[in-house]
Amino acid sequence: MTQGERFDRLDRFDVVGVGALNLDYLAAWSGPRDRVEAVVNSAVGSPVGWGSEAAVEENVVRRLLDLVNPADVTVSAGGSTFNMVYALAHARPDLALGYVGVAGSSPEGGFSAMDALGRVGVDVTVVGRSPRLPGVCLALGHDGDRTLFTHIGANSETAQYLEQRFDELVEYLARARIVHVTSFLDPETPKVLLRLLTAARSVRPDLVVTLDPGHVWCADPSPEILSLVALADYLLLNRAELGLLAGRVGAVGGEDEAGALLRTMVTPRPIVLVKLPDGVVLYQTAGTQLVGHKMLAPDEVVDSTGAGDVFAAGLLAMLVAGSPGPHEVELGAQLGLTLARHKLRHLGSRGHAAFGALTQELGS
Ligand SMILES: Nc1ncnc2c1ncn2[C@@H]1O[C@H](COP(=O)(O)OP(=O)(O)O)[C@@H](O)[C@H]1O
Ligand SMILES: [Mg+2]
Repeated sequence: MTQGERFDRLDRFDVVGVGALNLDYLAAWSGPRDRVEAVVNSAVGSPVGWGSEAAVEENVVRRLLDLVNPADVTVSAGGSTFNMVYALAHARPDLALGYVGVAGSSPEGGFSAMDALGRVGVDVTVVGRSPRLPGVCLALGHDGDRTLFTHIGANSETAQYLEQRFDELVEYLARARIVHVTSFLDPETPKVLLRLLTAARSVRPDLVVTLDPGHVWCADPSPEILSLVALADYLLLNRAELGLLAGRVGAVGGEDEAGALLRTMVTPRPIVLVKLPDGVVLYQTAGTQLVGHKMLAPDEVVDSTGAGDVFAAGLLAMLVAGSPGPHEVELGAQLGLTLARHKLRHLGSRGHAAFGALTQELGS
């Protein structure tokens, strides 16, 4: 029996997500900026980049949360891949989904990403467990800006977890039709993740890899991150990320940035998807296509956290349907936009209940 035949006989996953697991705190700050700046400056020693993202210690997140009125804070499970998988479970409850990552222990037995995944039927049997606090992401809204303060928490154990359970995780990933990967904030994880995905691909050559590297990986990609880009079948970026990443692979001056990225991708039919407010551009070696949608006005957007992850869920909901052809990708982009647009109009995951119906409408 060949390895391929052996895997055919095991249970299959449609999609396995690989990524951080966080607790997201969504908070509105209407007080003066200097009170936030005092907390951050004293701990980090540098000014707050309003509207950007900063890695901070756990106590900084705590002290910032203490500033905010508890009634203005919403807590939910998060992490880019978590958001994608959670949305996909709502869009396609019929799919077999799995997760690779490290879950922390929530304070006082509170809300946890593990519980949330379990509730929507995602397999969590290989998720690592850590006694540390989970990763935390505080999104502080102020004057139309959203500033992210992240604390790595239990996700800091990911490299060690991937290393220690390497063979088991290779088998697990090779049971998937599609593996979706998003960024980790430490320098070690990309190295072992690259080896892990390469090993899973050699067991299962038709494994599809979708990668959403996000701002942090695009701004400062290590050689391993660039190798992850190279082995991806689908690369999901927004306009800013495209510019950053293309600059790192040698494209200059805005011209043919996606083409430069496509050339670095070694899979047979790579696709770069660039997310814009009014649609998505699909770049393939064979040509370029715009899938448009009606963009929302700023005052129609209720909560933008994780909209890109919901887009990815819509894309994957269509890619799993069959072998990815041009039509599936276009439909997937359309569904991704529809779901992202819906998500933008709802706080957190409050609109997710409609994802199933929206998916069926487009698929039929
Ligand atoms: N004004 C808007 N109206 C409708 N859709 C939007 C608008 N702005 C962004 N989007 C969609 O929301 C998603 C945002 O993804 P991304 O840029 O990765 O953001 P994030 O990483 O913050 O979630 C994309 O699918 C994009 O097409
Ligand atoms: Mg994004």
